[in-house]
Amino acid sequence: MRRQNVILVGFMGAGKSVCGRLLARRLGRCFVETDDMIVATEGRSIPEIFREAGEARFRQLEAETIESLRLKSGDVIATGGGMPCRDGRMEVLRELGTVVWLDGDVRELYERARRIGNRPMLDGRSMAEVEELYRSRRPYYARAHITIDTTGIGADQVVARMLTALREADAVRA
Ligand code: S3P
Repeated sequence: MRRQNVILVGFMGAGKSVCGRLLARRLGRCFVETDDMIVATEGRSIPEIFREAGEARFRQLEAETIESLRLKSGDVIATGGGMPCRDGRMEVLRELGTVVWLDGDVRELYERARRIGNRPMLDGRSMAEVEELYRSRRPYYARAHITIDTTGIGADQVVARMLTALREADAVRA
């Protein structure tokens, strides 16, 4: 059974946090971020986890976090960009609610993510390598129930499009 959560997935810089927070406000729902859950339980930032414990440890923490999402219902949940990109993960997310992929032009996503900073997965990677990472992740994201193309539009418009699509899918009340 779908637990009525709305789960945002997508590459770094897609606007999952900003748009997720706005969407939650519009729907009168709680907003949670898997990265924040990890930071809270670990007591250190994402870059610190990558630096001190490595990417593999971070992925393990993501696996534990996805299990604790099973307790949630009715929330808007923003996931980290790599969280859905392991076999079986999208299936779990799809069981938890309606999954929305915020997609966009990879160069635009990259520029936005770079501007905000704190993205260990971008450190030391060339644009070509980032594009390759994005391409390798697309098949996972593409399993979402709903896809929103964010190319060239602002957060308010993204939220408006999400609301329309969620209503059409009967995932939220009209
Ligand atoms: C990651 C994305 C980040 C964060 C971590 C790893 C990734 O979240 O989970 O730095 O592998 O794409 P955002 O998508 O919010 O940047």
